[in-house]
Amino acid sequence: MNILGIESSCDETAAALVTEERIILSNVTLSQDAEHTPYGGVVPEIAARAHIEHMDEVVRRALVEAGLSWSDIDAVAATTGPGLIGGVIVGAMTGKALASVLGKPFIAVNHLEGHALTVRLTHKVDFPYLLLLASGGHCQVLAVEGVGKYQLLGATLDDAMGEAFDKTAKLLGLGFPGGPKVEALAVRGNSLRFAFPEPLKGREGCDFSFSGLKTAVRLAALESSKDGVIAAQDAADICASFQHTVGLVVKDRMRHALQVYSKQFSAKTLVVAGGVAANRHLRDCLWELAGEYGFSLVAPPLPLCTDNAAMIAWVGVERLRLGLADSLDAEPRARWPLA
Ligand code: KG4
Ligand code: ZN
Repeated sequence: MNILGIESSCDETAAALVTEERIILSNVTLSQDAEHTPYGGVVPEIAARAHIEHMDEVVRRALVEAGLSWSDIDAVAATTGPGLIGGVIVGAMTGKALASVLGKPFIAVNHLEGHALTVRLTHKVDFPYLLLLASGGHCQVLAVEGVGKYQLLGATLDDAMGEAFDKTAKLLGLGFPGGPKVEALAVRGNSLRFAFPEPLKGREGCDFSFSGLKTAVRLAALESSKDGVIAAQDAADICASFQHTVGLVVKDRMRHALQVYSKQFSAKTLVVAGGVAANRHLRDCLWELAGEYGFSLVAPPLPLCTDNAAMIAWVGVERLRLGLADSLDAEPRARWPLA
């Protein structure tokens, strides 16, 4: 089975072909960073227009790179939410049109399920597992019990983890998306220079919060700035201290999550997914914590942490196997919680 996956819920226009045997035949991602950089964040209207302009070409490239023709496609899976609705509509309509013309099943994919199941495409991971899903729009802790079967153990009370990275980067004038820029600059910084607060530290449950940390970072940036300019070393120290603190927060909150999850499940797998899972320091923190509790940590390879269409095609495989195809009436949704 060859499944075409389509993704357009934020600022990447993406298409991929994935087989039932877990082979990624092609995985094309066109980033819109250049379009959004002048605004310091994703502009929904610009994103939707860029998806319309590039989607056809991206799908065609995915097909060519896979060495397939239209008739080799067995099903079409497209993200139908959650996300920026204009972009979601573009991908969903493209997917439905192709499924209809090819006479093949259509699978309406929840973008978050794409992140949640990526490790089952790249590794042999069985259900259940404990998942930290950390992206630009979401920060959730879930027990993943099966396809479509999620138990929400905790979530952020304010900003998403990726959003905290993006806001830190914006504050320091590093550009967009912020996560990779903060990570790169942190390498040259002193992570112990600023003692930032760790929101919710020691608190019961597995919720997250980043607003207090964000304010502390803003104050540090203000104090360091001279005539509106922050010296390179100060910026690096802020990035390093911020990333270090996020690591402490992740360890504290996920320690609780491991305990809560272990009361219900005996399978010892911890998974991290979503764009922030690309951060090496956070992966190291989770690896250390997992080891402490006898868990193994599984994380997707870096290019499959951030938004891509291979993960959407893979959800198509998983759902189709269970007979979970959707009708062409499946509605695009801006909001669509996993649990
Ligand atoms: O999963 P994703 O591509 O899109 C959403 O579904 O939101 O995640 C994007 C987020 C952005 O906030 C970006 O800054 C963050 O993931 N990110 C990172 C890194 N790479 C991407 N955050 C920290 N370190 C990174 N290396
Ligand atoms: Zn995402």
